[in-house]
Amino acid sequence: MKTYLVTGGLGFIGTNFIKYVASNRKDIKIINIDSVTYAANPDNIDEEKTINYKFYKIDIANNDELSEIFKKNKIDYVVNFAAESHVDRSILNPSIFIKTNVEGTLNLLKLSLEYKIEKFLQISTDEVYGSLGKEGLFTEKTPLSPRSPYSASKASADMLAMSFFHTYGMPVLITRCSNNYGQYQFPEKLIPLTIINALTGKDIPLYGDGKNIRDWVYVDDHVKGVLAVLEKGEFGEVYNIGGRSEMQNIDIISLILKKLNKPLSLIKYVKDRAGHDRRYAIDFSKINKELEFNPQLNLDKGLDLTINWYLENRKWWGKIISGDYRNYYKIMYERGK
Ligand code: NAD
Ligand code: DAU
Repeated sequence: MKTYLVTGGLGFIGTNFIKYVASNRKDIKIINIDSVTYAANPDNIDEEKTINYKFYKIDIANNDELSEIFKKNKIDYVVNFAAESHVDRSILNPSIFIKTNVEGTLNLLKLSLEYKIEKFLQISTDEVYGSLGKEGLFTEKTPLSPRSPYSASKASADMLAMSFFHTYGMPVLITRCSNNYGQYQFPEKLIPLTIINALTGKDIPLYGDGKNIRDWVYVDDHVKGVLAVLEKGEFGEVYNIGGRSEMQNIDIISLILKKLNKPLSLIKYVKDRAGHDRRYAIDFSKINKELEFNPQLNLDKGLDLTINWYLENRKWWGKIISGDYRNYYKIMYERGK
C-alpha cells in the first residue's frame, strides 16, 4: 500500500482529488496536510467516513511542522496542490504567494529529497506561460512568461522542482492545467461567483471588455489527468492538461445566466484586472498521446453538473459568503461605490 502526501487537500481541486482517489484506489493511503486558509473547508472531507485517510493542519511554509510529517510517516508520493491560487488576491498582497507557493514548495522538495520519496508531483498552471493573442496554444515547450504575482510564484515553484530533478535526480513530475470549474470551488472564482451572485440577485462583475478567453476543464477531468501523470508519467517531464473548451468571459457568464433563467442585466462591466492575461488555450496532445488522457465532459454538461451542485449545496456556500468573504468582496468590488 502506497502513502500519498497530498497538500492543500481541503481546497477545491485537492478535495476532488482526495475523494476520487479514496473511491477509486482502495490500496492507497492518503495523508492530507492543509494550513486551512480562507480557501479551505474542513467540512469537505469526512475523516471518519473516508477510509485510509488522515488530516493534519500543517503549513507547508513552516519547515519544522512539515518535517514532523515526514519523520513520523513513511511517505511514498507527494502531490503538491497547496497554494495561494487567486490572481486578484496576488495583486492585493503578493507576499503570501511567495511564502506558500515558493518557500512552501522548496520545503517540500528538500524534505522529499531527504526522505527519498518515490515521486513528487508539482501541480502547476497554464498561467506560467503568460498570455496568448488570438492564435496559438500553450505547449509544454512554450517559454515561461508569468505576468501576475500569482503566476510568477507558480513559475518559480516549477523551476525549483525541475532544478531538483536535474541537480539531485529527484523523481519530479509537473502538470500545468487550464481553468478548472466544478463542485467545491470557492465562491471568489468566476464560475461559482456567477452562479452564486445570480442566485442571490447580485450583480456579476465582468472585468474590462469581457472578451478575455479561458480554456475551461471540469475538475474531475483534471483529477484524472493528475492521476495519469502520477501513475504513468515520466520523471523530469511537464504535462499540460486542458478541457478543449475555450470561451470568452462574457459568453460563459451569459450561458450560466441562461441556464439559471436569470436576466443578462445582472452583468456589470467593471474596471479591468491589472495585467489581465488576454487568452489561455492549452495543447494537451502530449498527455493525450503518451498517457491516454482525454477530458470526458464538455462545457455544457460540466456547467449543468456544477450549477446543480451549487443549487443542492446552498449550505456549503451560504456559510462562506456570510463570513469573512464579505470583507473580501467589499475590498474587491465595492470600493469607491
Ligand atoms: P484553492 O485556493 O481552492 O485551495 C488551495 C488549498 O491550499 C486550500 O485548502 C488552502 O488552505 C491550502 N493552502 C494554502 N496555503 C497553504 C500552506 N501554506 N500550507 C498548506 N496548505 C495551504 O486552490 P485550487 O483551485 O484547489 O488549486 C489547487 C492547485 O491547483 C494550486 O496549486 C493551483 O495553482 C493549481 N491550479 C488551479 C487551477 C484552477 O483553475 N483552480 C488550475 C490549474 C492549476
Ligand atoms: O488558468 C488556470 C488558473 O485559472 C489557475 O491557475 C488559478 O488558480 C485560477 O484561479 C484560474 O485563474 P483565473 O484568473 O483565470 O480565474 P478567475 O476565476 O479569477 O477569472 C477567470 C476570468 O474571469 C478572468 O479572465 C478574470 C475574469 N473575472 C474574474 C472575476 C473573479 C471577471 O471578469 N470578474 C470577476 O469577478
